[in-house]
Amino acid sequence: MIFTKSKTLALRSEEEIVLVRQATRSWMVEQRFTLVAQTKMMTATSELARNAVVYGGGGSARLELLEESGRVGIRVQIEDRGPGIADLEQAMTDHFTSGQGLGLGLGGSKRLVDEFEIWSEPGKGTRVSITWWK
Ligand SMILES: Nc1ncnc2c1ncn2[C@@H]1O[C@H](COP(=O)(O)OP(=O)(O)OP(=O)(O)O)[C@@H](O)[C@H]1O
Ligand SMILES: [Mg+2]
Repeated sequence: MIFTKSKTLALRSEEEIVLVRQATRSWMVEQRFTLVAQTKMMTATSELARNAVVYGGGGSARLELLEESGRVGIRVQIEDRGPGIADLEQAMTDHFTSGQGLGLGLGGSKRLVDEFEIWSEPGKGTRVSITWWK
């Protein structure tokens, strides 16, 4: 796997969620990903970024442009050092929410993208990685 470029953005507020969305879109436009790919990645990115701000107390987003066997991919890794998620299976279940949400962010994001990985440790934080391959 070749990492063509990468960039890390802070994620502490609604404004910074917008900046992360915009950066993701601009990389995908530049690389000529389809509009469907752009929309799905941006939707998933927004959901995960919002979770990091709302539940994780803020964090960061790392964007990576990848190349593997001639295929171009984009990866967005959202990380926070918040309370973490004690029961990942429960958190991934549609309609489970510990807050005021619909409980569709994590499950919905997973369904939208090519690759979805989540790591979380109570007391340490949460990291979610989503990838789209062209
Ligand atoms: N970064 C995080 N840190 C701690 N807990 C999290 C984090 N992300 C998600 N969770 C937990 O997982 C639950 C499910 O998240 P999910 O995004 O699916 O739904 P939601 O945020 O509650 O609602 P929605 O995203 O539909 O508005 C959250 O209610 C919260 O308890
Ligand atoms: Mg959510």
